[in-house]
Amino acid sequence: MAEPRLVVVSNRIPTDAQPAGGLVVALHEALESRGGVWIGSSGNMVDTPGPLREISPEGSVYTRLAYDLTHDEHKGFYLGHANSVIWPLFHHRADLIDVSEESRRQYMGVNARVAEMIAEVLEPTDILWIHDYHFLPLANELRKRGVGNRIGYFLHIPFPNPSDIAALPDRKQLGAWISAYDLIGLQTQRDVSACLEWLRSDTDAEFTLRGRMKLDGRFFEVRSFPIGIDVDAFQKAADEADIRITDLPPDQKLVLGVDRLDYSKGLPNRFEAFGKYLGLRDRDGPRATMLQIAPPSREDVEAYRDIRAELESMAGSVNGEHAEIDWTPIRYLRKPLPRETLAGLYRRADLCLVTPLADGMNLVAKEYVAAQDGADPGVLILSHFAGAAEQLDGALMVNPYDTADMARVIDQALTMSLHERHARWLSMMQVIRETDIAWWTDSYLRALRSQPQMQVA
Ligand code: UDP
Ligand code: G6P
Repeated sequence: MAEPRLVVVSNRIPTDAQPAGGLVVALHEALESRGGVWIGSSGNMVDTPGPLREISPEGSVYTRLAYDLTHDEHKGFYLGHANSVIWPLFHHRADLIDVSEESRRQYMGVNARVAEMIAEVLEPTDILWIHDYHFLPLANELRKRGVGNRIGYFLHIPFPNPSDIAALPDRKQLGAWISAYDLIGLQTQRDVSACLEWLRSDTDAEFTLRGRMKLDGRFFEVRSFPIGIDVDAFQKAADEADIRITDLPPDQKLVLGVDRLDYSKGLPNRFEAFGKYLGLRDRDGPRATMLQIAPPSREDVEAYRDIRAELESMAGSVNGEHAEIDWTPIRYLRKPLPRETLAGLYRRADLCLVTPLADGMNLVAKEYVAAQDGADPGVLILSHFAGAAEQLDGALMVNPYDTADMARVIDQALTMSLHERHARWLSMMQVIRETDIAWWTDSYLRALRSQPQMQVA
């Protein structure tokens, strides 16, 4: 039997104009290998809403259909409800939320409008795979329009704790939104536990046989599918990269960080820890320079502007205290780099710091490991709070709030024997290979296809 057509929906789709985040990188790789349709926002803003239009580049294996958001939708849906309420809450930052009736109205309005556009292009045998926190209500909107197709959901960010959900203005609707999907995919077991705990404590969901849930007359399943990367492509990119940091002497250690400029990534804690490391390091040992790549993100949201100012001042004060005429300990690049350049930097780096306060998975952690030269691999320092920590037990784990400990762990990483670095790298490579991007897509879609299509209570 022919495979059903796959229709993927996410807020962001790849266009030349937009920088990548983990979702776009992973979904592009997934669709490249199997084809299908990807629907999302063009990144352009208009005054009046228009229809879907095709924007596939020449020779693309899959079809890209885009819609433009209006200025009001961008403000209320994207900057407002999605990124000033749901994102902070799901990253356990209720202190940062900015609730507004108008933003919530735009969030619901965009979900209804996108549902309308999808319903027009959907074939009865298609399977739909909807991504991320921008579209929590989308399946419910599609069901209201009579769509009976299998609909899967994948949440790329952490599933919140019941106490975070208590602060969500949509709390009462969340059960209906979630149960309109057939399969809820989450990054980690920790997320699955949080979701089941919320269903148990805050909804009328029934736990049925075979791990399925029943709520509002619909059956659905909640499972973890840790997202992966294209390991071979990253290794090849690192092998082929020609990166020379001309003013970084070969014997100087390179400590790398690569993160969107987001308060969830724990960058101030990382800068503080690196400053403490500089204070305790052996003065006769090699110097270490930290290179932080931090492309700006969601800059029209106040909390993002605050983090930028804070980091700039921290980098200045650490450098002020520790720099020498021929050495700047923290270098900070506020622009996105192409993946080929990143691959080369990963290969050159002796240590990668992935120290978020909360993160769904964190693909940078996996990319760094994949890009290493097995004969002389670098070390990964990983926060307990990254989804990747559930899988990568060869990393040196840290609590990003404990910056004194992080400083000691940086020292441990930079003085680690080749034997230990190699053993740790091998164990991480094995997991990254076993759960690569093809595994993620295949296992999720297999699970979605095995859900019964007719959802009768
Ligand atoms: N990335 C990139 N250029 C940059 C910074 C990041 O291409 O300058 C990519 C990076 O390689 C990774 C993704 O963006 O694939 C970030 O994903 P991650 O899961 O680490 O974090 P997110 O941004 O999704 O929170
Ligand atoms: C995270 C989210 C994605 C988002 C990406 C970049 O990976 O899970 O949904 O696309 O960050 O953020 P942006 O707001 O620029 O799309």
